Amino acid sequence: MSGHGAAIPMTSQKSGPLTGQADVPGDKSISHRSLILGALSVGETRIQGLLEGVDVLDTGKAMQAFGAEVISHGGGSWSVHGVGVGGFAEPDHVIDCGNSGTGVRLIMGAMATSPITATFTGDGSLNKRPMGRVTDPLTFFGAQSHGRSEGRLPLTIVGAAEAVPVCYTVPMPSAQVKSAVLLAGLNAPGQTVVIEKEATRDHTERMLVGFGAELTVEDSEEGRVITLTGQPELYPQDIIVPRDPSSAAFPVCAALIVEGSDVLVPNIGLNPTRAGLFYTLQDMGADLTFENMREEGGEPVADLRAKYSPNMHGIAVPPERAASMIDEYPILSVVASFADGITRMHGVKELRVKESDRIEAMATGLRAAGVTVEEGPDWWHVHGCGGSVKGGATAATHLDHRIAMSFLILGMAADQGMSIDDGVPVATSFPIFEPLMAHLGASIRRTEV
Ligand code: S3P
Repeated sequence: MSGHGAAIPMTSQKSGPLTGQADVPGDKSISHRSLILGALSVGETRIQGLLEGVDVLDTGKAMQAFGAEVISHGGGSWSVHGVGVGGFAEPDHVIDCGNSGTGVRLIMGAMATSPITATFTGDGSLNKRPMGRVTDPLTFFGAQSHGRSEGRLPLTIVGAAEAVPVCYTVPMPSAQVKSAVLLAGLNAPGQTVVIEKEATRDHTERMLVGFGAELTVEDSEEGRVITLTGQPELYPQDIIVPRDPSSAAFPVCAALIVEGSDVLVPNIGLNPTRAGLFYTLQDMGADLTFENMREEGGEPVADLRAKYSPNMHGIAVPPERAASMIDEYPILSVVASFADGITRMHGVKELRVKESDRIEAMATGLRAAGVTVEEGPDWWHVHGCGGSVKGGATAATHLDHRIAMSFLILGMAADQGMSIDDGVPVATSFPIFEPLMAHLGASIRRTEV
């Protein structure tokens, strides 16, 4: 599959103990939102610890195309001079969001209630993903969308000249859809109401309040009811981006399966809408502890310590936990391969429409590595090998960073290592993955072609 320059095949080999400290980069979800909300406020938002992954950099370029000034000061320090709610200018070129579903969906929402037109595209992965889930509710505000079949990119949004507020129940568990509707609601007069049946990550809600919007959340029988009052003035903020629990998952899980490991991953946010993997690993018998529990910026934060855990067992992962660990199922399936017994993952249909079909991509690679996997439309079971996984295969990564990193972690503990066809996508969310894992003692090499 194409979408970037030349592929870089990689191989990881069975590793000695992983030890030391893993300083993972900033949270991807919060980084996108910092740039977008910074662009929608009037004045200078300063951001520390921004994830400088390709996905987020693409969102930064997009904000510039809509008229904001986005400046890097080096070392994860950025500033955004915003144009205010309703202040977006019409871009004079196509907005390329690369690999990022979060980027394109949130930006489509943010521009859909301004009287401007923008065309969006992405890479070979993003251009296959469903966009109707966002463009459908945007039409209720008065926007129009013209895309390929099933609303796929490239597509053009003609923003509503006189937007009306909406009340929308999100039909699938998706923080991106919820956020797109809320961002569109910013420039609609009156109250926009979004109802989600299951709680998904709530960074947009928290950050909108932080930027000065009037937003309330109530739990009702229908679900979480989020009410936003439109056309607020958003005030620029100083933001310190917490480290990404979804990136922390990789060194944590590597430590659990590589013999003799003991790794500290400091300063990880344990927002309940994001932390499901860590509780699942504990339920499986992982030696994973939360040290130095504290609150920072209104969020629970801890240092995670993960030690080699040879006695993990498969569990039925509670489906109601799925939204809080939706990006972590690929790496969980790797840990499950080394556990005893079957890990059953249900209620995970959304995995089929991520950067790749993640059930299919993981099942195919795991089977090639000697692991038994069963799957259905919205479930999969991984049969643990009880500590010893063969490996020795090459997994196709389908332009999906989390598939690439998951198989490289598998190779660190598998008898014959593991290869991937392309490591380039890793840089979308975790640009320092290779040096960070090498620092812990892992052996990953770029394979000659
Ligand atoms: C994200 C929401 C999730 C997640 C993605 C980031 C966000 O996607 O998988 O990596 O930042 O809002 P969905 O909204 O499609 O579940």
